[in-house]
Amino acid sequence: MRGIILAGGAGTRLHPITRAVSKQLLPVFDKPMIYYPLSVLMLAGIREILVITTPEEQPMFRRLLGDGAELGLELSYAAQAEPGGIAEAFVLGAGHIGDESCALVLGDNIFHGQGFAETLRACIAGVERGDDGAVLFGYPVRDPQRYGVGVADADGRLVDIEEKPTRPRSNRAITGLYLYDSRVVDIARGLTPSARGELEITDVNRVYLDKGAARLVDLGRGFAWLDTGTHDSLVEASQYVQVLEHRQGVRIACIEEIALDRGWIDADACHALGVAQGKSGYGEYVMAVAEASR
Ligand code: DAU
Repeated sequence: MRGIILAGGAGTRLHPITRAVSKQLLPVFDKPMIYYPLSVLMLAGIREILVITTPEEQPMFRRLLGDGAELGLELSYAAQAEPGGIAEAFVLGAGHIGDESCALVLGDNIFHGQGFAETLRACIAGVERGDDGAVLFGYPVRDPQRYGVGVADADGRLVDIEEKPTRPRSNRAITGLYLYDSRVVDIARGLTPSARGELEITDVNRVYLDKGAARLVDLGRGFAWLDTGTHDSLVEASQYVQVLEHRQGVRIACIEEIALDRGWIDADACHALGVAQGKSGYGEYVMAVAEASR
């Protein structure tokens, strides 16, 4: 399965912070926001990842993440000139996806919870076996009208989906992580742009729903799916990460630790990545993780 991180957009809801800096490069406590969705794909075992950004901001993402080789990844980049919709990721990423299945994660979504990697790998296996054409992840929220909202039947099959409904039929928001089979490129290419001129992800999901091929997996109450869309929620996400990291002494979304854990880099390589960031607590943590693994 190939991965895509969609990290474009104008970030207007976070102005003036995002007037000069991409939203997905802003800090969420101790690391740039994009580390969180990148770590989701890494936990899922995905190593070939396309990062889609605005053309102007691409050099900064390249400076941060490079070609991914030092993490055992293959990162490539594509530019989205205008916010043409989330589903445009599959049109821009058609060459990257090829005949493979694909995981798309929004660059501003933060997921955290026990057993998430296992859940993801089981869902990916379902797509690769052909059991599911699309897998979406639902999360209970207080304000579902701000999101895509889904309804599933008793077997977990998606039976209804609406984008930002005024009267939501459930409290299950569709999160910004989507797994699709290889048909997704043709489906996205065949979409009619919405009234705001965008290729809507909910329209892609509706095509799979109509085929009876979409699954909605619940991320339960014990899970955290955090928003970074407003000034308040951005600070709250940082506080969440800070509280857990201080209490447990582990770091959330430490990409060097995940690469080491997966066996994509060895302890020496991990230690060197820590040394390069050694004046920060983050760098010290990466060094300690490498030492502990020897
Ligand atoms: O976060 C989950 C929600 O994301 C879903 O529940 C909704 O169904 C889905 O439409 C989306 O809603 P948002 O209102 O959050 O979409 P937004 O337009 O803010 O885009 C989400 C992120 O994707 C944002 O950080 C910028 C990026 N993006 C968006 C568009 C439309 C791009 O990079 N390019 C784009 O063209």
